[in-house]
Amino acid sequence: MSSAIRILVIGGTARAGSSSERVVRHALAAAEAQGAEVELFDGPFIAALPLYVPDRTERTDAELRFVEAVRRCDGIIVGSPGYHGSLSGPIKNILDLLEDLSRDERPYLDGRAFGAIVTAYGWQACGTTLVAMRSIAHALRAWPTPFGAAVSASAPLFDANGDCLDPKVAEQLAIVGRQVTDFARWRRSGLAA
Ligand SMILES: Cc1cc2nc3c(=O)[nH]c(=O)nc-3n(C[C@H](O)[C@H](O)[C@H](O)COP(=O)(O)O)c2cc1C
Repeated sequence: MSSAIRILVIGGTARAGSSSERVVRHALAAAEAQGAEVELFDGPFIAALPLYVPDRTERTDAELRFVEAVRRCDGIIVGSPGYHGSLSGPIKNILDLLEDLSRDERPYLDGRAFGAIVTAYGWQACGTTLVAMRSIAHALRAWPTPFGAAVSASAPLFDANGDCLDPKVAEQLAIVGRQVTDFARWRRSGLAA
């Protein structure tokens, strides 16, 4: 087993310049700076997955690649836009695929750190979507990090290079990346759970 902590990152919409993809990219960079090995499943990947159907057992190569990456990860960061007060359909759809891990020795996201990040125009959807994501993390037996980031996308968040325009937002995103990596490292060392 490689000694690097593996952090899997899911986030974004298929929209060009997706804010929910950009925020997870920032958290990913923070995890990487902590020495984690990271893998991103971005907006276009998420949007192209077939709709989850409970009794469909065939899997596309993309579905298999994703499920295998989750199986191997120590922590996960999920970024969703707030759609009508909750997660977007495609983000929920990729999380539904974790049902494939239900019979694993470590079922679902058992023992993994879970960092949640939301972008939405308004604070109400930021809050309700963050709560929904953390409830999903609990249902999947993950450990939501103490800090989850909710970011208002009502004003531009990034410049043309993808750099965050607001240092406070950049720091909040980095905290999520660092907390997921820290917990994963503690778990590996036996200091947590
Ligand atoms: C179908 C849809 C529903 C939305 N619902 C809400 C909402 O309930 N509250 C809110 O504040 N913003 C809402 N928004 C705005 C999105 O949350 C916001 O534009 C988000 O940052 C888009 O993410 P993206 O940049 O990754 O595509 C909605 C947008 C869409 C397309």
